[in-house]
Amino acid sequence: MNKTPQDKVFSSAQTKIEDFRFGKEVAAVFDDMLGRSVPFYDEMQRMMTEMAKDFAVPGTNVFDLGCSTGTTLLRLDAQLKADIKFIGIDNSDDMLAKCRAKFRSRGLTRPYELRSLDLNQGIAIDNASVALMVLTLQFIRPLNRDKLIADVYRGLNPDGCLLLIEKVLGEDSLFNRLFIRYYYDLKRRNGYSELEITQKREALENVLIPYKLLENRELLLRTGFRYVEVFFKWYNFCGMVAVK
Ligand SMILES: C[S@@+](CC[C@H](N)C(=O)[O-])C[C@H]1O[C@@H](n2cnc3c(N)ncnc32)[C@H](O)[C@@H]1O
Repeated sequence: MNKTPQDKVFSSAQTKIEDFRFGKEVAAVFDDMLGRSVPFYDEMQRMMTEMAKDFAVPGTNVFDLGCSTGTTLLRLDAQLKADIKFIGIDNSDDMLAKCRAKFRSRGLTRPYELRSLDLNQGIAIDNASVALMVLTLQFIRPLNRDKLIADVYRGLNPDGCLLLIEKVLGEDSLFNRLFIRYYYDLKRRNGYSELEITQKREALENVLIPYKLLENRELLLRTGFRYVEVFFKWYNFCGMVAVK
């Protein structure tokens, strides 16, 4: 198995910080970037697999919206019944190329499709027992989020679930400030320098737009989901499961 090279995307000083893009440079180091930037990433993946096992139904589809390099679908592949098709969606062809290569080298065991689509345009999904959006809704323009979640809801079968992981804002500015500080401390502990942290924060400023936890919950409930439960929370990161 090839080891992902270390993320050095923001390690040298840039004269002008461009908006963050999921291009070739990021795709090449993405697995290392997530492992060092997302608290308890591995445990969240394990928990999502555990829950997906209980919701995924033979003869249906599992959709991963913003599938990146396919980490989540690979984890699910090891645990879900064979008669379930995987559909990964992303608008970065560099991510999808990595994902395809990873599926080939690790030997994904089931039928799958990878679709290059912009989720800002909405999405047509069908016969889904599980849909996942792992750190992806935060990159969709707020104006388009209600429609996207409504599209996901429509494509889910009754009793199907959406597993949503998001970076979130604190409910008030005091905790928001503290949580962000604790988060940057985590990045330091994981080997990122001040320069890397500052430059990435600037690059993400207009691109990653987090909601508060309660705003995400409200969005899911007004779309029609019957239950919305928080299954993971670490300062400014949150995992929710919503059931149709
Ligand atoms: C933080 S990554 C998701 C990580 C991935 N789900 C995982 O856990 O490994 C966000 C992904 O969403 C994709 N993305 C961002 N905006 C998108 C859009 N408008 N349409 C489709 N995909 C988008 C990016 O290309 C990127 O691969």
